[in-house]
Amino acid sequence: MSDDISRKLESKLDEKLFSNNRKKQLKNGFKKGKVVNEVLDKPTVMALYKLITDHIIAYVNGSVSAGKESVVFWAVDDNNVNVALKIYLVSTSNFKKREAYILGDPRFLKLKKGTQNLVFLWAKKEFKNLLRCFDSGIPVPKPIHVSRNILAMEFVGKNGSPCKILLESEVDENDYLESISLIKNLYSKAKLVHGDFSEYNIFKTEKGLVLFDLGSAVDLKHPNTVEFLKRDINNITKFFSKRGITVKDPEQILREIIS
Ligand SMILES: Nc1ncnc2c1ncn2[C@@H]1O[C@H](COP(=O)(O)OP(=O)(O)OP(=O)(O)O)[C@@H](O)[C@H]1O
Ligand SMILES: [Mg+2]
Repeated sequence: MSDDISRKLESKLDEKLFSNNRKKQLKNGFKKGKVVNEVLDKPTVMALYKLITDHIIAYVNGSVSAGKESVVFWAVDDNNVNVALKIYLVSTSNFKKREAYILGDPRFLKLKKGTQNLVFLWAKKEFKNLLRCFDSGIPVPKPIHVSRNILAMEFVGKNGSPCKILLESEVDENDYLESISLIKNLYSKAKLVHGDFSEYNIFKTEKGLVLFDLGSAVDLKHPNTVEFLKRDINNITKFFSKRGITVKDPEQILREIIS
């Protein structure tokens, strides 16, 4: 494709992806065109566009968070319901360290080599983990769709602003007990260990805590389950302890869960 045609296609896609009455400058300093040109690669933009033609979303309304390995967008569906799009970045990703969370999981035995495949697999893994949690009644954003490196899920928040995470919230003993229940239920009902359970990956909503960022969660058959579980319990214990909450012995909690 010539550069000229390619540029025209990109600006057309940009117009389609973002609704007309939105500001030129998105939150986080994203300019509309820049989202396409600098943050997302062309195949991702095409995949995003396909979400529109498949009626998963109607348009993208802005960006919510820009991390090193993923960006999260606020989209809206045909019924005006908010949707969160987590897009894993293929080009900048540092996915080597993630291999450990995939290789030992029996659900992903046939692993094709290559970073791109690993990124797609990671998105699919997060989707499957969310689905398992959702089906087990564990409060997580409801998964909607996954294709390539794009995960669509329920938007937890209002008007494009996500709910506060635990780190940003006032917390009490109830939140601590609820967090420990999340870990327990994840283990006993969804048969998963989160692997990155922390004050960064839990929303505190009006209806209680909502766990998210489940890309690293592993099936109980994974050989490092106990190690990950121990770390999850220690992380959250440290957080609540620093906030002045009386916490239980993490070793005791671990024993209770695995016995
Ligand atoms: N379902 C959702 N609804 C609303 N906001 C969300 C949702 N999922 C993620 N976010 C927002 O995006 C941020 C990052 O999401 P997440 O933790 O899943 O990604 P991450 O890869 O860990 O990103 P980071 O590298 O920034 O930690 C969250 O802190 C939250 O603000
Ligand atoms: Mg996170």
